[in-house]
Amino acid sequence: MPSSQAQIAPAEGKLGILIPGLGAVSTTFIAGVEAIRRGLAQPIGSLTQMGTIRLGKRTDKRSPLIKEFLPLADLNDLVFGGWDLYEDDCYQAASHAEVLEASFLEKVKPFLSGIKPMPAVFDQNYVKRLEGKNVKKAANKWELAQQVRADIQRFKKENNCSRLVMIWCGSTEAFRKPGEVHSTVEKFEEGLRQNHPDIAPSMIYAYAAFQERVPYANGAPNLTTDVPALLELSRKNSAPTCGKDFKTGQTLMKTILAPGLKARMLGLSGWFSTNILGNRDGEVLDDPESFKTKEESKLSVLEHILQPELYPDLYKNFYHKVRINYYPPRGDNKEGWDNIDIFGWLGYPMQIKIDFLCRDSILAAPIVLDLVLLLDLAQRTPALKDIGVQEWLSFYFKSPMTNPNLYPEHDLFIQLMKLKNTMRHIRGEEMITHLGLEYYD
Ligand SMILES: NC(=O)c1ccc[n+]([C@@H]2O[C@H](COP(=O)([O-])OP(=O)(O)OC[C@H]3O[C@@H](n4cnc5c(N)ncnc54)[C@H](O)[C@@H]3O)[C@@H](O)[C@H]2O)c1
Repeated sequence: MPSSQAQIAPAEGKLGILIPGLGAVSTTFIAGVEAIRRGLAQPIGSLTQMGTIRLGKRTDKRSPLIKEFLPLADLNDLVFGGWDLYEDDCYQAASHAEVLEASFLEKVKPFLSGIKPMPAVFDQNYVKRLEGKNVKKAANKWELAQQVRADIQRFKKENNCSRLVMIWCGSTEAFRKPGEVHSTVEKFEEGLRQNHPDIAPSMIYAYAAFQERVPYANGAPNLTTDVPALLELSRKNSAPTCGKDFKTGQTLMKTILAPGLKARMLGLSGWFSTNILGNRDGEVLDDPESFKTKEESKLSVLEHILQPELYPDLYKNFYHKVRINYYPPRGDNKEGWDNIDIFGWLGYPMQIKIDFLCRDSILAAPIVLDLVLLLDLAQRTPALKDIGVQEWLSFYFKSPMTNPNLYPEHDLFIQLMKLKNTMRHIRGEEMITHLGLEYYD
């Protein structure tokens, strides 16, 4: 047994999953976990549940399941809670979202009906299109943070949890740049007391989580923990964090395809991406301020993968456009089109067209599962718990968080290698470099 294996604390007791935002993604995730626990479905799309990891040489034939290699929480030990500005319980919210069929939802109805949202920290300046009654009241943002801390403590006690993880599945908030108020913990706390307008609701949840030593993952493109004050708190309180923006439909395809084009030194003159979707997320993104946050997240991907500064003849000045259009008839079943103008030998142009009829929440739910399990693992792992940002989880995000002096890695295949090598590293196994010369000695 490798020595570092003993150092990861075991996953004993219940793991509470706390979710701001009980909408399409989170209810699809919760309903799915319950169905999987009852043997009604398979955890398709989840690397932690279905994936394997190769250890040692190819000739060793050691490829255990990841969930057997790492001491992850067992699905039977997960309990769920959350906040929303709408009073719907998880069954009602899932029915409203229309991701899962009514006949399927019936099977998990009693379980879902039992999960009722706690009153939310909400500010319409950050999400213009929503209005709900299940909202906390307080004299200032500091008091709101204390209320969330009390919610966390109560949930932990009532559900007899040994550990908690928080994951933001709330709506995309309006775009804000980091400012002075986000620069240190002291300034941030002063800002909470002064009701500073640049402290978003998502930051209040994250602040409360870190104060309670609870790790926090960010599924939306909002800044949230990606500011110095909250990163400082994350490190100080050994509450790891990761984000931003789940990498699902169109951006997933982009980060699969673009590395392939670059690997073969094929040029790119333009990439036009457009989407139609009709769920509540689409409605929120119909507001230009929320769309701006999403656009920033979606646009950065190609620049980082293609590296035009290193390959000016292939990628300088390529035109990249991303549109999202709210189209109610489609609900959660998004359609994403990509028109890609590439060029090859002697500059001859070619085109690639993608029409991805995807299901947003079906793609996002297994990501939520993996993230909560891996963040919980990070908090139990000496090498990871005090470093704040968990860059090895970039694999799951459109805008991966990194330390400020690093550029993010967007290439899905490099991200996967980073993820698996981190898993090997924390268990004292050898890194896999894919060199392979040793087989020819
Ligand atoms: N589904 C995907 O593929 C995908 C991919 C990347 C990112 N995301 C992001 O994940 C998030 C959730 O997506 P969804 O499809 O479930 O959206 P949704 O609109 O169905 O659910 C979001 C929920 O958050 C609630 N909410 C908003 N602000 C809140 C607050 N301050 N506190 C508590 N609750 C709040 C809303 O009332 C709503 O019920 C969105 O930000 C979306 O952009 C989704």
